[in-house]
Amino acid sequence: MTAQTFQISQISQGLATGFGNAQPGSSYGSPGSPYGSPGSPYGSYVYSYPHKTSYRPFTPVLPLEEVWAAEPKDHLFLYTHIPFCEMRCGYCNLFSQSRPDPSLVTGYLETLYRQAAAIGACLGPITVAEMAIGGGTPTFLSLPDLEKLFRIYRDIFQIKKSPLSIEASPGTVTAEKLAFLAEQGVTRLSLGVESFDSKSCKAIGRPQKASHVAAALQAIRDSGIPSLNIDLIYGSQSLERWSEDLSQALAWEPEDLYLYPLYVRPLTGLGRQNTSWDDHRLALYHLGRETVQKAGYEQLSMRHFKKRGQGDLQTPYRCDRDGMIGLGCGARSYTRQIHYASPYAVRQDHIAALLQKFKESSESDFQHVSHGYRLSHDDQQRRVVLLSLLQASGLDRNGFHRRFGVDVLMAFPLLQDFAQRSWLCVTDDHLVLTEEGMAFSDWIGPQLFSGSVTRLMEDYVWQ
Ligand SMILES: C[S@@+](CC[C@H](N)C(=O)[O-])C[C@H]1O[C@@H](n2cnc3c(N)ncnc32)[C@H](O)[C@@H]1O
Ligand code: SF4
Repeated sequence: MTAQTFQISQISQGLATGFGNAQPGSSYGSPGSPYGSPGSPYGSYVYSYPHKTSYRPFTPVLPLEEVWAAEPKDHLFLYTHIPFCEMRCGYCNLFSQSRPDPSLVTGYLETLYRQAAAIGACLGPITVAEMAIGGGTPTFLSLPDLEKLFRIYRDIFQIKKSPLSIEASPGTVTAEKLAFLAEQGVTRLSLGVESFDSKSCKAIGRPQKASHVAAALQAIRDSGIPSLNIDLIYGSQSLERWSEDLSQALAWEPEDLYLYPLYVRPLTGLGRQNTSWDDHRLALYHLGRETVQKAGYEQLSMRHFKKRGQGDLQTPYRCDRDGMIGLGCGARSYTRQIHYASPYAVRQDHIAALLQKFKESSESDFQHVSHGYRLSHDDQQRRVVLLSLLQASGLDRNGFHRRFGVDVLMAFPLLQDFAQRSWLCVTDDHLVLTEEGMAFSDWIGPQLFSGSVTRLMEDYVWQ
């Protein structure tokens, strides 16, 4: 099959799956039988638990100071959400407004400063171990706006040096912005390439010129930012085209590579087409994995590959244990028991309304938590299982026992079913996904959600 012959319109109709396709009555996320058909291997990309579609209003609202009172604040992650993009890609349901009016962006940065000041006043002194600026597309911001953003980190949180990752799209990076980011100590830049082929990008609803991609990659390599990640998406292209995308990405010797299966999500351009790419995606997954492994990359999760010999990022932050402060509309924050964020939306008019509400927020609004999820003891256990099991390093059985006083296989008998199915390798010390288990990560993850989280996700009304 060639790139030209594998077109969206020719893909057979099938299961409408993909992350977030949960509709009331769908089997998505329901525990099901591990011995039955696994269905789509693309049930859900589990990068956090519980998912934001399980968040609901807190009544009454919770004082921020109380939410953080008993939390350790010495290894925090600081995430900033920039909800703006140069375009709205056909597959994307991220919280972002495309081509916003410049006054909206200016107002957003002013509000971000007010929010950070209000949070800083409530939390008192904190130590940030790691930072990320995501979106949307943070490099959509102009240079003066990026300067305003970094002023927040200096003025409010007195951050001097911390590993900092930023997301970018090829059409929005310039040598000037990159020089500024390098000077501010950005350690990693993640570039959404998706495909090096303009036609493949067009097929998934992303208008992108191949010449912009090459220019952006050269400028990033010239900027001195130490680490480059390239995101690629597989789903609608042929095996040959995918192979070409992989070689072109590898030619830049990125320190990290994220190979995402194409998730078809509700209310996105592709979501409205009701198509399925399951078998083809699995073939593309295997090709991607083998190709990058041969090129010297180590698999860290179903999506994430790291160039060997890079050394681990030395940071004391541990995502299954330490808290996260989210700044901005659409950013999530995590304490051990409370996860919270502003409400989520996909439709551009709903996103615009939420951004307006963010701008109108008072200091008191920023010092209260109004929307999120309270994790039970069971949810806290599930979170640890999900965040470790879906990584190639697996789950430390003794660590789990020390923390929760129970053997993980006793707490979650479903794991024994996964082992019988040869998806999980069990030793006295560790649980590690097998090669086949890793390929089915996106199906395995949602099976480990609690019934109440699954129900909340299924009841969520997409807007
Ligand atoms: C915030 S974007 C990256 C930065 C920038 N906004 C861009 O698109 O270039 C996050 C990444 O998530 C991946 N992604 C988003 N939605 C996806 C979907 N529905 N299926 C597969 N990957 C997706 C893409 O690889 C994308 O680059
Ligand atoms: S993929 Fe990136 S550029 Fe495209 S809409 Fe999503 S966040 Fe914006």
